[in-house]
Amino acid sequence: MEYMKVNELRESFLSFFESKGHLRHASYPLIPQNDKSLLLINAGMAPLKPYFTGIEVPPSKRMTTCQKCIRTGDIENVGKTSRHCTFFEMLGNFSFGDYFKEEIIPWSWEYCTEVLKIPADRLYVSVYHEDDEAFKIWNEKVGLPAERIYRLGKEDNFWEVGTGPCGPCSEIYFDRGEEFGCQEDTCEVGCECDRFMEVWNLVFTQFNKEEDGSYTPLAHPNIDTGMGLERLAVAMQGVESVFDIDSIKAVREAVCKTANKEYGKSYETDVSIRIVTDHIRAVTFMLADGVLPNNEGRGYVLRRLLRRAARHGKLLGIDKMFLTDLCKVVIRESKDAYPELLEKQDYIFKILSLEESRFYETLDQGLEFLKSYIKKVKERAEKMLSGEDAFRLYDTFGFPFELMKEILAEDHIGIDEDQFLKEMENQRQLSRSSREENTFMGGAEEIYAKVGSKEPTEFIGYTYLYTEDALVKGLVVNGEIVDKALKGEEVSVVLNKTPFYATGGGQQGDKGKIETAEGIVEIKDCIKSAGKYVHIGVVTEGEIRSGSIVKAAVDEKNRMNTARNHTATHLLQKALREVLGTHVEQAGSYVSENRLRFDFTHFEAIGYEDLEKIERMVNDKIFSSLTVEIINTDIDKAKSMGAMALFGEKYEKDVRVIKVADYSIELCGGTHVKNTAQISTFKILSESGISAGVRRIEALTGEAALEYYKSQDILIKTAAMALKTTPENLVKRAETAIKEMRELKSEFEKLKSSMTGNIVDDILKTGTEVKGISLVVSDAGELDMNGLRTLGDKLKDKLKSGIIVITSKHEDKANLVVMATDDAVSKGVHAGNIIKELSAIIGGKGGGKANMAQAGGKSPEKIEELTKKAAGVIEELL
Ligand code: ALA
Repeated sequence: MEYMKVNELRESFLSFFESKGHLRHASYPLIPQNDKSLLLINAGMAPLKPYFTGIEVPPSKRMTTCQKCIRTGDIENVGKTSRHCTFFEMLGNFSFGDYFKEEIIPWSWEYCTEVLKIPADRLYVSVYHEDDEAFKIWNEKVGLPAERIYRLGKEDNFWEVGTGPCGPCSEIYFDRGEEFGCQEDTCEVGCECDRFMEVWNLVFTQFNKEEDGSYTPLAHPNIDTGMGLERLAVAMQGVESVFDIDSIKAVREAVCKTANKEYGKSYETDVSIRIVTDHIRAVTFMLADGVLPNNEGRGYVLRRLLRRAARHGKLLGIDKMFLTDLCKVVIRESKDAYPELLEKQDYIFKILSLEESRFYETLDQGLEFLKSYIKKVKERAEKMLSGEDAFRLYDTFGFPFELMKEILAEDHIGIDEDQFLKEMENQRQLSRSSREENTFMGGAEEIYAKVGSKEPTEFIGYTYLYTEDALVKGLVVNGEIVDKALKGEEVSVVLNKTPFYATGGGQQGDKGKIETAEGIVEIKDCIKSAGKYVHIGVVTEGEIRSGSIVKAAVDEKNRMNTARNHTATHLLQKALREVLGTHVEQAGSYVSENRLRFDFTHFEAIGYEDLEKIERMVNDKIFSSLTVEIINTDIDKAKSMGAMALFGEKYEKDVRVIKVADYSIELCGGTHVKNTAQISTFKILSESGISAGVRRIEALTGEAALEYYKSQDILIKTAAMALKTTPENLVKRAETAIKEMRELKSEFEKLKSSMTGNIVDDILKTGTEVKGISLVVSDAGELDMNGLRTLGDKLKDKLKSGIIVITSKHEDKANLVVMATDDAVSKGVHAGNIIKELSAIIGGKGGGKANMAQAGGKSPEKIEELTKKAAGVIEELL
């Protein structure tokens, strides 16, 4: 066997299976499509599940891929051992009801021994203990001696992950040599040590594992094989671990260089080097596939990996932002097999550095708190951080939970996870209840099934807005099938053919009318699923009967307005890519007759000037009257024409391409204007962020834009009228008004303070003395407690030495404040004691400090009595 590079190994595998009649397919994105059971693609077969189960027809019955995979189940071990990786590539070949064991077993042997030239005596295999058939093929057809074939149990030789296709398997092991082994006499295939390395897994996919845990036999048995490319490279390159194979070693060395550390010198350092090496690979590929860092699902996996890498960089002593530089090495090593890395690199760098710098801020702030928490836990001689503290750190600083756990573990402290989860759930409940619930209308398919119809609806709405001879195949009212629907009833109408566009591809369904000899149904919406259309509306006249022939007419104005918005969305996407860059990709859209909404990937708010530029660009294309062409073709031709497809989206073979002159070309099933001039005008209403790295633009076209301008015009005119000026002078007038107001306010403040100054002086003039201490007693009239205190402070300042007793009335209550200057206090005055006596007069209770006390009372009519008695009361207390 010869040394082979990772890139060479990948190619040799794929071309070997091409030579066996397999269709080579590029790796599917890491984000699973239409598969809620998986967060991230974790095996070569995962994106192909619908082909195995027969839900979809594969492009070929034999396929081969090298699939990007992420597995985070063992994340704690990544770095600690040199065996674990989160990101890896899986070589695989697949048969969808085509060949089976008889073929794959000899082929796998042929590939290993003849293409890779691995000496037969270094290979062993295992089979599922009951699988005599596989045993026989290995033994008789391949000629492998029985003692090299191990029969193992379900643990080892039955492949399943979650629900979906699964079955018994046969594995091929590579003997790395005694020096890698545990040296025990019992060491053989299946031993935990590093000697016999499992490289290839041949799964005989015969069952589908259902949600309830049962196994349903599949109609045709399939083949699904998986071989870890990195592991194979370990064997072929004769190296110690996956961190030593050519492509990963390059990254590892870049980590060492940045950190100025040598690999293989200390265990702790090696752990961090391996973590950074593995995680930056995973992060780069995930970003390229459109995963964005956030706090949920796969976004959280990404964030966690990224932050873990950043933190271990810090542990290695790297004192600057470094992930982007490492990411460049990952891209350099893998760009040939994964061109998307290069295409998206600017975008990847932006998100990466944004997230990295944010994380350092979080880390610095959060670490301080965490340290104080650790101290607290230790002081109390406890071993556990409370769930509340952990949640506070997580919630306030976005401090990653797992990281918290790791850092605490360094001090042998755990987290009260149950409590943490409870806090988390509480918060979720709160945010859930404040979110708007989406109403579910019931699927088209469900209604179709109800009315007993199987054939899909014939959709004629790309060409016609009207038909005279549609047949009512069924009616549903309140979830029940009915023969007829009566005036006032809400009804779902199933037709054999329709000009109504059904909500889909971000475009709102058509409105319109269904007319029969017996009555009229106003249609408010049309929905579909799997080619079946349901018209939802209300009977406004007469009735509608199942089996009648009807006229179905789309509301043309409504359709036209929607088309305006849809074509404008395409122009907008193109303009965004021109102004902001090609990292902009559609992340969602909504088009109705009223407005358009477009969500796209971009990492920061769009500045005013760029937004202007984008709006201008779209309007230019509208004013240039560009022809909109609709081309029906196949997906490959469409792609070669340069049509923009939705990232990771699966398309049928036959597709529809919308081409706006030479400006924009997109795959799209929506309805569009014939010429951009029909859009009339385009106005951006808002630009905002909806989640990390995803922005949203809302805009108007045509009549709605005109309405908007009109309303703005009215607004300006009304504002001008209110300010008694003309629209032209509005800004100037508003500026002068603000200036005048500011001046008046400052005048007013001056006046107010000079007035209080006067009041203060007047009050002070009324002052007397008790036992040689100045005393001021005064009623301030209508004033609340705050005002009274402020007045007291002013009096005290000015009096310099003495006692102040002031009262006021507010909302039918009496207020009382007693203050004493410091030197009065030193002479034995105690405001708190004074107030105790005085407050009783006004029907209240009070107390306080020696220099200040306040009280309220329910008898304001007694204020006069109080002011009269004050001097005497104080005299007695002194
Ligand atoms: N699906 C099988 C695996 O991942 C081949 O091991």
